[in-house]
Amino acid sequence: MQNTQERRNRQSGGEACEASRMQSGAEIRCSGDVKLILAPMAGLSDQPFRRMARLFGADEVVTELISANAFVRENKKTVDLAALHEDERPASIQIFGSDPAVMAEAARRVEQFQPLFIDINMGCPAKKVVRNGAGSALLENPQRAAAIVKAVSDAVKVPVSIKIRTGKNHQSKTGLDVARLAADAGAKRITVHARTVADKFCGPIDYDAVARLRADLPHIELIGNGDIHSVDDARKWLERTGVDGLMIGRGAVGHPSIFSAIKRGEPAPAVEDSDTILQHVGWMREFLGDRRCIGPLRAHMMYYSKGLADARRFRQEVTVLEDLEKLKELVERFFNQNKEAQYAA
Ligand SMILES: Cc1cc2nc3c(=O)[nH]c(=O)nc-3n(C[C@H](O)[C@H](O)[C@H](O)COP(=O)(O)O)c2cc1C
Repeated sequence: MQNTQERRNRQSGGEACEASRMQSGAEIRCSGDVKLILAPMAGLSDQPFRRMARLFGADEVVTELISANAFVRENKKTVDLAALHEDERPASIQIFGSDPAVMAEAARRVEQFQPLFIDINMGCPAKKVVRNGAGSALLENPQRAAAIVKAVSDAVKVPVSIKIRTGKNHQSKTGLDVARLAADAGAKRITVHARTVADKFCGPIDYDAVARLRADLPHIELIGNGDIHSVDDARKWLERTGVDGLMIGRGAVGHPSIFSAIKRGEPAPAVEDSDTILQHVGWMREFLGDRRCIGPLRAHMMYYSKGLADARRFRQEVTVLEDLEKLKELVERFFNQNKEAQYAA
């Protein structure tokens, strides 16, 4: 396996900030100007996967959402979620909660991990988050959202960001009001998952709402998020909104090399190299140990194998495997076979 830095340089297209030529041939901007960021994803954007994203050219990563209440109570599992590996920096830590004082205290404690931003979740639709007035519930309560941003910004030296959706539903697009108030309250960056909560993860992307926000808040760093799976998707986002950066979630799961592919203006490979996946296995093992790493790895294997020949059998075998060495053998065989079939096609 190649040395990590060597691979990073190769996969990320080198350190140079070269102008990206998108597939259509239209030059967008210098790829170094447009940040590509791995999205926070509970259960997926853990430390090993964040390292994978950075290895393959993501400019930044964000942790999954972390409960401010549990952090302040010093729940060990919660505190561990905020641990950043040197390889993954620059990395932001996302927290959620509804009480400005608790959020400020959590932020003070999180600051010791030296995140790039402390990000406040204002888009999560999960019931257990919303019923406590946190996550996307804050979109319905702009004053509370602004009070949280103010309390957190006052409590820490690192910059504060928020991640929102456009609103609860198409009748209530309060996300933009929240964004404006948050900017006044001290937020330095706003990431917009450009659909409503009611649209879940598949409704239409509202580029116009983000473009309006761009015009309203020209000085704030604006990041666009939603349905970026290719260079063309990235180009559409940039052309229609003028955002400063793009955040990629599901498009990177099973395809961490999407970041370098977009920077090179190429499609992400249909099959990741077995070396890539073995690197992920190695980092997961380092992070969780031989036994505990198997469960989370199984989830990632489902995504790596999506759409590939004989994936059903591979997944069945992975589901019952308990031995890490056997998993590695299986990964090598399955992904090499698929890669060869791809070249032969
Ligand atoms: C499994 C999963 C978990 C997620 N967890 C979080 C989270 O912890 N915090 C957050 O702000 N967004 C979370 N999201 C939303 C993503 O960050 C992102 O906004 C959304 O998936 C849209 O981007 P995409 O189309 O690139 O996936 C999650 C999404 C998925 C699919």
